[in-house]
Amino acid sequence: MKIHEVVKWPEPVLARVGESVTVFDAALKQLVDEMFDSMYAAQGIGLAAPQISLSKRICVIDVSFKKNPEEKIVLINPEIIDRKGKQVEEEGCLSLPEIREKVARAEWVKVRAQDASGAWFELEGEELLSRAIQHEIDHLDGVLFIDRLSRLKRDLVIRKMKKLIKNGEW
Ligand code: NI
Repeated sequence: MKIHEVVKWPEPVLARVGESVTVFDAALKQLVDEMFDSMYAAQGIGLAAPQISLSKRICVIDVSFKKNPEEKIVLINPEIIDRKGKQVEEEGCLSLPEIREKVARAEWVKVRAQDASGAWFELEGEELLSRAIQHEIDHLDGVLFIDRLSRLKRDLVIRKMKKLIKNGEW
């Protein structure tokens, strides 16, 4: 089992648009397994490849955190094809430790993606799963949840992170 290091803001890979996956081989399946292990090791419910310094359109989600194997989701080259409603809840990110802010998201989304074998499928999610899907797909586009805050809130968070970095606490 390989645990990948999760990089933090302001690592440039987090701001880059990930490349589409074109090869669906054994190495990809292994990477997906390693992403789940790395996500669980970091106590997260979602992880995107750019967070382990890999600029590719792959993310894993498990909002049950190991409790329900059926909730383990792999999204490769995902695309949100429909969205409805609005929810505003507190959100965090493994790449932004200690930062939690309320973020507006769609209440329900439908996503189209490929699995680790390359097969296309569609998935619907609401509430927390919808939030996780939107958050992780944002990572594949180089977007962090703080980019969805008001300018003022975002500036405050950035100031806080810079202070943590300066104090060697990041
Ligand atoms: Ni995140």
